[in-house]
Amino acid sequence: MSNKLFSLPIINNIIRYEETDSTNTRAKEFGNRGSVHGTLITADCQTRGKGRLGRNFASPSKSGIYMSLLLRPEIDINAISEVTLLAGLSVAKAIKMESSNHDVKIKWPNDVLVDNKKISGILTEANFDKKLNYIIVGIGINVNTPFFDDSIKDTATSLFLTCNKTFDTEEILYNTLNLFNDYYDIWIKDKDLKSIITEYNDFLISYNKDIYVVPHELSKKYENPYNIEIDNLEPMICKGINTNGEMICENHNGKIEIVRSGEVSIRGLHSYAI
Ligand code: BTN
Repeated sequence: MSNKLFSLPIINNIIRYEETDSTNTRAKEFGNRGSVHGTLITADCQTRGKGRLGRNFASPSKSGIYMSLLLRPEIDINAISEVTLLAGLSVAKAIKMESSNHDVKIKWPNDVLVDNKKISGILTEANFDKKLNYIIVGIGINVNTPFFDDSIKDTATSLFLTCNKTFDTEEILYNTLNLFNDYYDIWIKDKDLKSIITEYNDFLISYNKDIYVVPHELSKKYENPYNIEIDNLEPMICKGINTNGEMICENHNGKIEIVRSGEVSIRGLHSYAI
């Protein structure tokens, strides 16, 4: 399968681990040592899989896709978060190909959900010393995971649990990277996300729904999704993403607010999965 991955123009080098702490950590080491654009790192298992906001990403052996792609695009540092959205759309479409009669959605900016439960997370990290040096796009997909710890079992799922059969992780890896390859090319040409906005918003779970925009410093307080108690947060309506991948929010008086993924989380008014 590695050969097939090499047929994708974006893949220039592949490093595979049976086990590592985190493919993102490995990828950063390769990035610091000058590895080429398009270096793909995969692992069968991660002992310290990292999620966004310091969380961990459960990465049991041989049941998921744990990969990081090292990229060296010539872009403005502010555009880094756009890569997360390209990856999210690629993952969502690759998962939809396998589970067409299930509801596949993106929880902006970095989670993919199936039937309202998280199946995939994306962690984009960057190194910029004066100018952008490299970006790491880390993708975790729960493919054949048979069960989850009590702490996440109500909010996490896998393709196996969703569809009641096992899947070929290599094929899903290929499909995801194939889609990412194409979206990345378009993005480099356009220099923004204009070409994918409509498709992205179709997958966006919060699109046209009532949401709260929660600043990160308050997100711990509102961690319990079923017991969200809102102080002064104003309900908004999500109007989708703009060309820079920011979320367009409208309050009930029609006032527009643009929110950036680095600063806020989104909570649904009536459910967690938004
Ligand atoms: C999240 O859920 O907040 C993001 C999860 C990202 C997990 C992937 S798995 C491969 C790569 N290596 C990591 O340590 N994290 C990412």
